[in-house]
Amino acid sequence: MAKLENKVAVVTGAAQGIGAAILKRLLEDGAASVVAIDINQEQLDQTAKELDASSEKVIPMKCNIADRNEVTDVFKKIYEKLGKVDILINNAGITRDSMFHKMPQDQWDAVISVNLTSVYNCCQAVVDKMRKQEYGKIINLSSTSAWGNVGQTNYSASKAGLLGFTKSLAKELAGKNITVNAIAPGFIDTEMTRSMPEAAKSMALMLIPAARAGNPAEVASVVSFLASDDSSFVTGECIKVCGGFLM
Ligand code: CAA
Repeated sequence: MAKLENKVAVVTGAAQGIGAAILKRLLEDGAASVVAIDINQEQLDQTAKELDASSEKVIPMKCNIADRNEVTDVFKKIYEKLGKVDILINNAGITRDSMFHKMPQDQWDAVISVNLTSVYNCCQAVVDKMRKQEYGKIINLSSTSAWGNVGQTNYSASKAGLLGFTKSLAKELAGKNITVNAIAPGFIDTEMTRSMPEAAKSMALMLIPAARAGNPAEVASVVSFLASDDSSFVTGECIKVCGGFLM
């Protein structure tokens, strides 16, 4: 039996990078349906087509997850179409890096709402039903920046916020057979790290004991573990995927 047979998963930020790698891995693990959410419709449709040419398993849905009403609408459609959500992977995230003394409020607000409030929005949309079905896997993509990084007070606050959120929700839901875990990727080869200033990038790479960037599939394989029943007694954890950068 495939690891995720009959399971319905939702992945946010699924159009590219780590999110697209997660989609691919969940399909390989045999998920019945994977809803791919992103704000970038064009890139999302292209990724969905590349991974599932027959459109049988990947269902792309455009949504701004920072907007509570849009999230409510999109999950209503998901439940009407698929009847349940077993796995929610809160992956979407943005950076608006700036030294704090130069950071305008719109950069703070954008990062907190897309990276943190969105997770409140998506969890609100599934938790009641997961409690009723007494099954669920919630996985939140945090970051090693939760432990602090120059130029990222907004991003670090959002990603550290996710760790507290994960642990509290894990305690609330553990008795209902729902696990809530986090993953903290370090320097992974994606558009986000590619767009860093060259000097910051080489400095970051120098600090990784594995002496290389990670790739999105190496994050997706940890998602695969946390999304499956192989991790049934693991909850409230954060697994770092960073080549030894933080231990
Ligand atoms: N440590 C200490 N001081 C630093 C520093 C560092 N790492 N980097 C810059 N500074 C200092 C500079 O020396 C300079 O000081 P003075 O003003 O006294 O001369 C000051 O900060 C400003 O430096 P810049 O001229 O470079 O400032 P800037 O405003 O143009 O850019 C920055 C600053 C936004 C931090 C920029 O350097 C940057 O984008 N750095 C990369 C941030 C980063 O690591 N982002 C990670 C993105 S990937 C990701 O987030 C994925 C994940 O989950 C891990």
